[in-house]
Amino acid sequence: MFFKELYETDLEIFRAIYGEAERQHSGLELIASENFVSLAVLAAMGSVMTNKYAEGYPGKRYYGGCKFVDVAEELARERAKRLFNVKHANVQPHSGTQANMAVYFAVLRPCDTILAMRLDHGGHLSHGSPVNFAGKLYKVHYYGVNPETEVLDYDMIRDLAKKHRPRIIVTGYSAYPRGIDFKAFREIADEVGAYLLADIAHIAGLVATGFHPSPVPHAHFITTTTHKTLRGPRGAMVMTDDPELGKLIDKTVFPGMQGGPLMHVIAAKAVALKEALQPSFREYSQQIIKNAKALAESLMESGLRLVSGGTDNHLMLVDLRELGISGKKAERLLEEVGITVNKNTVPNDPLPPTRASGIRIGTPALTTRGMREGEMREIGRIIAEVLKNPESESVKEKARAKVRELTEAFPLYETYRREMLRYLGG
Ligand SMILES: Cc1ncc(COP(=O)(O)O)c(C=O)c1O
Repeated sequence: MFFKELYETDLEIFRAIYGEAERQHSGLELIASENFVSLAVLAAMGSVMTNKYAEGYPGKRYYGGCKFVDVAEELARERAKRLFNVKHANVQPHSGTQANMAVYFAVLRPCDTILAMRLDHGGHLSHGSPVNFAGKLYKVHYYGVNPETEVLDYDMIRDLAKKHRPRIIVTGYSAYPRGIDFKAFREIADEVGAYLLADIAHIAGLVATGFHPSPVPHAHFITTTTHKTLRGPRGAMVMTDDPELGKLIDKTVFPGMQGGPLMHVIAAKAVALKEALQPSFREYSQQIIKNAKALAESLMESGLRLVSGGTDNHLMLVDLRELGISGKKAERLLEEVGITVNKNTVPNDPLPPTRASGIRIGTPALTTRGMREGEMREIGRIIAEVLKNPESESVKEKARAKVRELTEAFPLYETYRREMLRYLGG
């Protein structure tokens, strides 16, 4: 790392980065969409590949000097294909939203119909929210979870698909704690002649290691972010098992949607994908799920209600209505004791998303720190105590002390922080 140069050039940014590293170390990160990348991934991201223009694809660039960035992109593509057992991968999209945009631009025309999950039931903005480009460009119809069971109801989805005849059906979610039956989705898509997009942004790491069923070969398109359970740099990919659709995606991403790819990020994606191909990543993914189950049980034993009664993946949704506090307040209360979560709507939420009636909690980041079921059970008890006693300063003080104990026992980016601190005179 080049801390000396950063320190001498821009002390304000140096301090902000140091502060962020300390914040990540000294808190319990339970935001389901976040993770901590390895130093190897960080090194690739902070590399000279950021300097290189490489419009096009390996071997077919619009610029000279692409010999080494071609190596990086080729490795990223090959590793993605191997990891997900899929025929085609485009590793250039800058974000999950742009990966979804690439799929829509490839097969939809403006005003075509999308069938996707409601935002307040766990869908993502880019699946068709009115405030997102997807909702503005396309006609969007929504399905939700079954009101009794709070899980996907394939008969309801089939009825909606038959009624609205979408050109594409979107599955894969931001806040859904249960498994997805991609085969059932494909059958519905085939019945109405629709494409199926599986957005596995959240569960990619679990899919890659076999702890969630794969959308390959059921979905026509698979999009994913690389920075959640996959534990890579911020970015995304589009995959498909159909070589013709693969060609269409490549054309849509470049020149259709973006110019020069972020080659330093693509190099970092390649590193993360290599890490994900190791046996240790399989153990990591399994532990994410074990941790989520332990945390969910602990929260429920402490009297909290979880949407759908638990979790099968890396995340859970706590319904706070019985406690009489909003998600916004819960998020703030937990932040006061060093626990980071995000407010989240629950199905059929009476509150707007800016306040919400729930919080979303996920285990990928703390699992990366090495925490296991015992720590999760303790964290569940701390969360429940704080939420059940929102006015108690002594409860908060005790919670802060426990959080400090846990974070000190599982240090994060220790050498990185120590090296930065040397410049700040610590
Ligand atoms: C299911 C799903 N798709 C897409 C995205 C978008 O990713 P990005 O924030 O990189 O645009 C997210 C992000 O949370 C997501 O949960």
